[in-house]
Amino acid sequence: MRISVILAHPEPGSFNHAIAEAAQEECIHLGHDVRYHDLYAEGLNPVLPGKETVREVELPPDIDGHCRELAEAEGIIIVHPNWWGQPPAILKGWIDRVIRPGVAYEFLEGDSGEGIPRGLLKVRAALIFNTSNTESNRERKVFGDPLDTLWKNCIFGLCGVPSVYRRMFNVIATSTPGQRAAWLGEVKNAVRGYYRRHGMQD
Ligand SMILES: Cc1cc2nc3c(=O)[nH]c(=O)nc-3n(C[C@H](O)[C@H](O)[C@H](O)COP(=O)(O)O)c2cc1C
Repeated sequence: MRISVILAHPEPGSFNHAIAEAAQEECIHLGHDVRYHDLYAEGLNPVLPGKETVREVELPPDIDGHCRELAEAEGIIIVHPNWWGQPPAILKGWIDRVIRPGVAYEFLEGDSGEGIPRGLLKVRAALIFNTSNTESNRERKVFGDPLDTLWKNCIFGLCGVPSVYRRMFNVIATSTPGQRAAWLGEVKNAVRGYYRRHGMQD
């Protein structure tokens, strides 16, 4: 199956990179066709130009490539740190420019855009791996865990993805090498569990 890995972190030696690489490795090990995107390394421009807000538009080649890939993906893995309860701006830009009408969702015929969108993605399971320096209970109670709502409800739920798994690794600042190694093992287990359990292996 076709799986896209989307990574948003500026430092090549970061734990986020280690997570994305572990996920990619496990996908390859399972025999999947993986497309790996390090958005910073690609230099993706996150600013959505006004002309891209309409449905019929000629997209620049890099964005068009991302859109085609997303439309064909059967699995997707997103990796990013928690920055102010949000994804880094470069990933927000990928969301704005790539998760487009006609690619990821559409409104029903005759609807002028105010109604319920219909998800178009073929993705059966999306995996989200996040890192933060906030303990889980505090993240939920004080901040409301906005990344959980964003990925599960606002994005993949809306785009028709039936299964969304999210794991936040914390607290990175005080984590030991042993804990990080165990977390990378968890990443591989989740990839294996999801992309096998859903019968999506080639
Ligand atoms: C701009 C910025 C905003 C951040 N905001 C938060 C935050 O809201 N909550 C939090 O727990 N950590 C926050 N952090 C800490 C990062 O989540 C943390 O450094 C990262 O998850 C560690 O992963 P890494 O070792 O791969 O960089 C922020 C860091 C930066 C640079």
